[in-house]
Amino acid sequence: MSVERTLVLVKPDGVSRGLVGEVVGRLERKGLTLVALELRTLQRSVAETHYGEHAAKPFFGELVDFIVSGPLVALVAEGPRAVEAARGLIGATDPVKATPGSLRGDYALEIGQNLVHGSDSPESAKREIDLFFPGLS
Ligand code: PPS
Repeated sequence: MSVERTLVLVKPDGVSRGLVGEVVGRLERKGLTLVALELRTLQRSVAETHYGEHAAKPFFGELVDFIVSGPLVALVAEGPRAVEAARGLIGATDPVKATPGSLRGDYALEIGQNLVHGSDSPESAKREIDLFFPGLS
């Protein structure tokens, strides 16, 4: 089984609600290894690059406004099929539809404040890790 790396963001709502430890703890208890972790407030240009593939979507402005609205925790986690493993822990994009037991299923209600981001493919993970933590992908 090949070891992968994935980018996870505890979004500003997760930081302000004191849920960083919960998110990080679940990743660690699953067996993923932390490779990098940092609290930072994103510049708008970085946020627009990160979410660039959604630039034409009607919610793009709201998405960028939200992700730059306060500090977030960016981290790189490593393990077998780390991208899929982290996405499973995070749950569906719409927190109301997310399975109870997942992070969004347990701790969020609104799609615009859905607590956590996880890379959606190994290719996205490489691009996102290169943006947040150059040299670590
Ligand atoms: S899509 O349309 O299927 O490509 O969108 P999706 O991959 O589900 O979501 C892309 C990111 O946009 C966020 N999102 C939203 N933000 C605000 N409002 C609305 N309506 C909305 N819909 C989707 C979603 O959470 C994704 O961001 P991340 O950070 O990956 O969770």
